[in-house]
Amino acid sequence: MTKHLELAVCDYPEHVPQDRWATYAQQQKELGLSFVRIAEFAWSKLEPREGDYDWAWLDLAVDTLHQAGLGVVLCTPTATPPAWLVRRHPEILAVDKEGRLREFGSRRHYDFASSLYREYSRKITKAMAERYGKHPGVVAWQTDNEFGCHDTARSYGGASAEVFPNWLQKRYGTLERLNLAWGNVFWSMEYSAWKQIKPPNLLVTEANPSHILDFYRFCSEMIAEFQAEQVKILREYSPNRKITHNFMIFESGFDHYAVAKGLDFVSWDNYPTGMLEFFAPAGTSEDVKTHFARVGHPDLISFNHDLYRGMLAGTDHDLAHNLTQNLAHTSSGQKGFWVMEQQCGQVNWAPYNPLPAHGAVQLWTAQAWAHGADVVSYFRWRAATMAQEVMHSGLLRHNESFDRGFLEVKALEPETFPEVFPLGEVPSKVAVLHDYESLWIWDQQKHSAALSYWTQVMTYYSALRSLGIDVDIVHPDTDLSTYALIVAPALTLMSQERAQHLELAAQRGSKIVFGPRTAYRTPSGMTPDQGQFGPLSSAIGARLHNFDSLRPGLEQDVRSSGSDILHPVSLWAESYELNKDSSSGATALYHYANGPLAGEIAVLEHGNITVIGAHSATLITEVLSKILLELNLAPTPLPEGVRLSRRAGKTLLVNFNPHAVAWNGL
Ligand code: GAL
Repeated sequence: MTKHLELAVCDYPEHVPQDRWATYAQQQKELGLSFVRIAEFAWSKLEPREGDYDWAWLDLAVDTLHQAGLGVVLCTPTATPPAWLVRRHPEILAVDKEGRLREFGSRRHYDFASSLYREYSRKITKAMAERYGKHPGVVAWQTDNEFGCHDTARSYGGASAEVFPNWLQKRYGTLERLNLAWGNVFWSMEYSAWKQIKPPNLLVTEANPSHILDFYRFCSEMIAEFQAEQVKILREYSPNRKITHNFMIFESGFDHYAVAKGLDFVSWDNYPTGMLEFFAPAGTSEDVKTHFARVGHPDLISFNHDLYRGMLAGTDHDLAHNLTQNLAHTSSGQKGFWVMEQQCGQVNWAPYNPLPAHGAVQLWTAQAWAHGADVVSYFRWRAATMAQEVMHSGLLRHNESFDRGFLEVKALEPETFPEVFPLGEVPSKVAVLHDYESLWIWDQQKHSAALSYWTQVMTYYSALRSLGIDVDIVHPDTDLSTYALIVAPALTLMSQERAQHLELAAQRGSKIVFGPRTAYRTPSGMTPDQGQFGPLSSAIGARLHNFDSLRPGLEQDVRSSGSDILHPVSLWAESYELNKDSSSGATALYHYANGPLAGEIAVLEHGNITVIGAHSATLITEVLSKILLELNLAPTPLPEGVRLSRRAGKTLLVNFNPHAVAWNGL
């Protein structure tokens, strides 16, 4: 059986009269789509009153799609607990950081820690799985919808506030241990009873970062547990069907690696123009936003593709059980992923929602394939004529005429995909390490307002992409043995085990590049007693000397020994002292040329390890480029907005600029 990119769409039969369903299914099939995702918000239609299920409409919807030859991705509807449930049990609602109840009337209004809500979630999951779990038309399940969307990963009251102390008790055993791990002696924050501990909000000034870190871990675990309960039921009543969840753009509220673990494949929702307007990392300039307004920024999009491609690396699902041809296909650490919601027109939720450029839908589809997507599923079939999303496009306009997304998909000629978009591996020899706990601790105390964790990681990622390099994004504790170069832009949280793992990778022959604030925090959020680089100190052969937070307008420069080229540094500068002992062998590669750190070391090298302490895109690109050359990885400098990607032995060259670019570098 050939394996190639397949297309799908998100559809909402419950939004339109039943007499449209067969026509839509036929049009979807004719367009060349293979799958349709349905029902993720349909709880009030499925169970209009408690225990009173109405399956007739969903039976018909699933049968209609199946008869048209389309595979159905069915969703558990738990992102939208209905009014009868919320009004009967308001205690399932979440509380925001400002202490306000997150009321009924939109979506995602529940607290993951609520045992009562979990009971309802299990009940509706079981009811659906019993009814449709073995339906020949159902190929996969999606759990819930976009965990964390609308800032819902954490609840600061209600059930979460109640369960948090118990969770801490399990984690620490004694209050003495917790007080020590959090450093609660500082400002007399010591606790003498578990019930005294609350979520870290509504305080006079900032909370203890260790308190925040554990609260974030707790919330993340609640999401993982919530989903695991659904997955268990789906596995029991719907064997041999794949299970996924549609993750979000740059969502930071939970540890995606932990939540993804029980899934067969991951998917994510790709909204390139909204992403640029709404989710672009701190410091993205207005000029960049305007330049890429109609297509999105290529690196922001591909970062998410690469992130989700690597999400299940290191887990070993049984690939032999694939029911649909296109799931989880690759060898090595890569696992096939889906784009479950792909923008195909305007979105409605960003400050500005420009019409995508002509060809953008095709560009995004090809880019998704090149970065490892097995299926691209457009959001949505027909533009909604009701409620919150009437300003959002679909493949069909409100009046059912074909919108530009539809015409672009048609012009892609899905029948040519076996040749044009075969599945296969993204041949990446370079890994960027990403860790949600480091993100949480970094962003709590950014120390330089515009230098968020994502800004820091994206600077390195973009530098690699601007050199034409294919990148895997993986968790630091996963198997790194296949990578020639490992880049850790913001790995601030460092355990002994993690340090050993990385040291081993360097000893085995991989080059490693660390960014600033590496190993600046212990797993409980403190600074190591020996300071930066904590457990990596001897591997790096140096220690932190000074760090400087640069407000906009305050700049300094860095230059390499013997060169006149100055690299401008913004936002963050840290300097190092080499260890004195002779076994260290670390050498300085770049120094600060001016400012308070003048003459101090900005970049150093020790064996296979390089550390870059200054935030400077040109410096980072130069250092990475030299290492890539040494490794024979052929860095290829590309014009701005132009990107190269490789998959299955093919190369895709894309131009995201609003104008043509002359380049013949291949
Ligand atoms: C996604 C969400 C969809 C829809 C879409 C609009 O975040 O999963 O249900 O709201 O945004 O762009």
